[in-house]
Amino acid sequence: MIGKIEKRRRFRESTRALMMEHLPWPGAWRTSWGFPPTAPLILEVGCGKGEFAVYLAQRRPDALVIAIDRRADRLATGCALAEKALISNVFFGQVDALILETLFAPGEIDILWLNYPDPYPKRRHEKHRLVHPRFIRQYQQLLSVKGRLYFRTDAPFLYTYALERLRDAQWIIYKATPDLQLGEGPAEAHFETEFRRRKGGTIHYIEAAPPQTTFLSE
Ligand SMILES: C[S@@+](CC[C@H](N)C(=O)[O-])C[C@H]1O[C@@H](n2cnc3c(N)ncnc32)[C@H](O)[C@@H]1O
Repeated sequence: MIGKIEKRRRFRESTRALMMEHLPWPGAWRTSWGFPPTAPLILEVGCGKGEFAVYLAQRRPDALVIAIDRRADRLATGCALAEKALISNVFFGQVDALILETLFAPGEIDILWLNYPDPYPKRRHEKHRLVHPRFIRQYQQLLSVKGRLYFRTDAPFLYTYALERLRDAQWIIYKATPDLQLGEGPAEAHFETEFRRRKGGTIHYIEAAPPQTTFLSE
């Protein structure tokens, strides 16, 4: 069994790891990695072990997939998966979602995924929820005019909370359901890790877009 320290070391040494000192400038993510300016830029926030990001990168070879999490030991798994499968369009960064706005230019991201974020059920921890208004404001800033947010949770109260906060911020809700059925939503919304499959439960799902032209009007 590999310990956390070794996992962090492996993360730092991986070719798939984004080290803070070598991050592209905001607005230059695609060009820095040799992608055309029209390539979709997909961001997964709170990616954990990165299985979803790797799956996404395999499904969308045309896209640049960036997956972030606070924990390098978890990211090491995603890096290893990507290296083993020789996938070159996914990168993992040890980043707190609080600083996303400093990393990306307004409108730079096309698709943003939030998969099963920590629910933080206690009221006093509310500000840590990745759908708290302070995060929603950032997503609004970062998503392109045609950008989409995809959100999944197995926690009913977090689903309701996310929906309310997005509505408060005037987001356009394209789909919201507490029980996503096969055939509904994009195919990616049905990808589950082994852990999730064992846990079971329904997928609470939201697909939303920021109010139009937020960043253009600023
Ligand atoms: C419940 S796990 C889900 C992981 C993964 N999305 C999945 O579906 O398996 C939530 C993840 O979000 C990360 N996380 C929580 N708050 C974060 C923040 N502010 N910035 C970055 N990552 C965060 C945690 O470290 C954890 O790995």
